[in-house]
Amino acid sequence: MGATLVLCKPDAVERGLVGEILGRFERKGLRIAAARLLRIDADLAARHYAEHVERPFYPELRDFIGRSPTLALVLEGPEETYAIVRTLMGPTNPAAAPPGTIRGDFGLEVTENLVHGSDSEAAAAREIALFFGDLDV
Ligand code: RTP
Ligand code: MG
Repeated sequence: MGATLVLCKPDAVERGLVGEILGRFERKGLRIAAARLLRIDADLAARHYAEHVERPFYPELRDFIGRSPTLALVLEGPEETYAIVRTLMGPTNPAAAPPGTIRGDFGLEVTENLVHGSDSEAAAAREIALFFGDLDV
C-alpha cells in the first residue's frame, strides 16, 4: 500500500472543480484516507514548499496558495501511489499539459495549476505529517 498528499489548490476550490478532480482520483481506484479544508498561511506554505522558498516565483506561489481555502487529502492505493497521482495531474505547466490530465483539461498558467501531489515516497511521508500530524496511513 502507498499513500500520498494531494492538495486541491485555491483555484480548484474557487472554480468548483473539487468534485471533478476528486472524482478522477476515485474512479482511478484510489481511496480517500483523510481530508481537511484549510487556509494555507505563510508559515505552512514555507514549510510545505521549503525547496522553493528562495526561487523568484515563490512570493507569487505563497500568495496564491494562501488566498482562499485548499482541500488537503491523503489518497491511498498501491505502492507508488504518488506516481499514479502525478500522472493524472499532468506536468507543472498546464499550458503544456496533455488533454486527459487534470492540469491539461482545466488549467492555463503555471501558478494556478489546480493540484499538488507529492513527488516521491519521502515527500509524501513528510507532507502527510505536515498536514495531518501523525496520521497512521
Ligand atoms: P506541486 O509541487 O504544486 O505539486 O507542483 P509540481 O511538483 O508540478 O511543481 P514544482 O516544481 O514543485 O513547483 C511548485 C509550484 O510552484 C509554482 N511554480 N511556478 N513561475 C514558475 O516558473 C513556477 N514554477 C513553479 C507552480 O504553482 C508549481 O505547482
Ligand atoms: Mg512539487
